[in-house]
Amino acid sequence: MEWEKIVEEKVKKIMKRNKTRMLSHDFDHVKRVQRYALLIAEKEGGDKEILSIAALLHDIVTQRNPGEGNLLPKGMHAKLCSEKAREILVKLGYPKDKLEKVCKIISEHEWSQNIERNLESQILYEADKLDSVGVFGALRHAYGIAEIGIPLIEGIRRRFKEIEKIRTTYRTKTGKELFESKVKPYLEVFKKALKEVEE
Ligand SMILES: [Fe+2]
Ligand SMILES: [Fe+2]
Repeated sequence: MEWEKIVEEKVKKIMKRNKTRMLSHDFDHVKRVQRYALLIAEKEGGDKEILSIAALLHDIVTQRNPGEGNLLPKGMHAKLCSEKAREILVKLGYPKDKLEKVCKIISEHEWSQNIERNLESQILYEADKLDSVGVFGALRHAYGIAEIGIPLIEGIRRRFKEIEKIRTTYRTKTGKELFESKVKPYLEVFKKALKEVEE
């Protein structure tokens, strides 16, 4: 618990300093992902401290700056976050064996990476994606659309296909159940939005 507090304070400070941080990936997102990861780990197993610290640091480097539409190349965001996490954890004196595990989990959290993940990597990945669905996820998506600078309606239409792809990447029973319970109200919001403009 002690390490989680130390890392949390550090992450909070770094995120506050970064004025170009994407609003969809702020400190509150990180905290929600941490909570989901622990919820899944509760049922599925996995080292909770490692997961908690990986969640706190998983988006320490942004995917792109607001106004710059292009995302970083596949896997680059995860790689940069993992490297930055390593730098932070080394400075804090976090034990080397645990640090390696945390960095590996972070380096595999992007959904565009088509890879086999170990349990903890898979849990963080699923927890991260859980925050992109649910009503909160729908609101976050509006931020995301604004950040890449495309019309709202286009961003909504694209999302249906993306959700189908994301669904196929869930592996844990708990993660799948949480995803399905949150994706329903999420798609409902988008379907209703489309209906309002199309009917
Ligand atoms: Fe990320
Ligand atoms: Fe994230």
